[in-house]
Amino acid sequence: MSIHASAGEAGVAAAEQVAELVRSNPAAVLGLATGSSPLPLYEALARKAVDMSAVTAFALDEYIGLPAGHTQSYATVIRTHVIEPLGMTTGSVHVPDGNPEDEEHAGGAYEAAIAAAGGIDLQILGIGSNGHLGFNEPGAPFSSRTRAVTLADRTRRDNTRFFGTLEAVPTRAVTQGLATIFDARHLLLIAHGSGKAQAIRRALTGPVTEEFPASLIQLHPSATVVLDREAAALL
Ligand code: F6R
Repeated sequence: MSIHASAGEAGVAAAEQVAELVRSNPAAVLGLATGSSPLPLYEALARKAVDMSAVTAFALDEYIGLPAGHTQSYATVIRTHVIEPLGMTTGSVHVPDGNPEDEEHAGGAYEAAIAAAGGIDLQILGIGSNGHLGFNEPGAPFSSRTRAVTLADRTRRDNTRFFGTLEAVPTRAVTQGLATIFDARHLLLIAHGSGKAQAIRRALTGPVTEEFPASLIQLHPSATVVLDREAAALL
């Protein structure tokens, strides 16, 4: 774990871990969180000008039902904050299909693509204020795989800041499962701000329980947590 004076400094430290991996393995496979937590990482990584053109990546999740090109769809966010600034290859960066024909089978092809890429070397994660990882909300099984899920009310309220109104926030999403996340060879969890302090305390020092999905990180053999002082305040 490392604790930094600001979110920006935490982002620089987290970016260095990603850069080290990609310098040693230019064809590394990354898992990509969206939301606000990883933005300082992506910005710092862009400044490092590491060659990311051979990297493969898999986004953690996508909202269901947004029209293609919607500014808040994670496909759009990944394109504008990750693919373009980092010079990644569009066809090598995967985002779950947010308009699946059949929600029941929404995750199978994504799981197969991750497996075909050789699995995820490094999964970048944020944490929900309710302890979610990806969109695996409290109660999600640790054995879960990529699938369609219903967002918790608290998640929809938290994400209203991206959509303007609560009604505009989708109610469903496709997310990598907790077992999918856990299979990554390394986890890199990033949190900043006082709004995350309680969740970080429970994730790192509370009981390991499906009622608080991020507590799963305690069981992972290779996990790094990068925080600013505010997110670390209750540790
Ligand atoms: C985003 C994701 C979510 C976020 C979490 C924190 O792809 O999977 O788990 O990481 O909701 O969001 P922010 O970083 O916006 O506070």
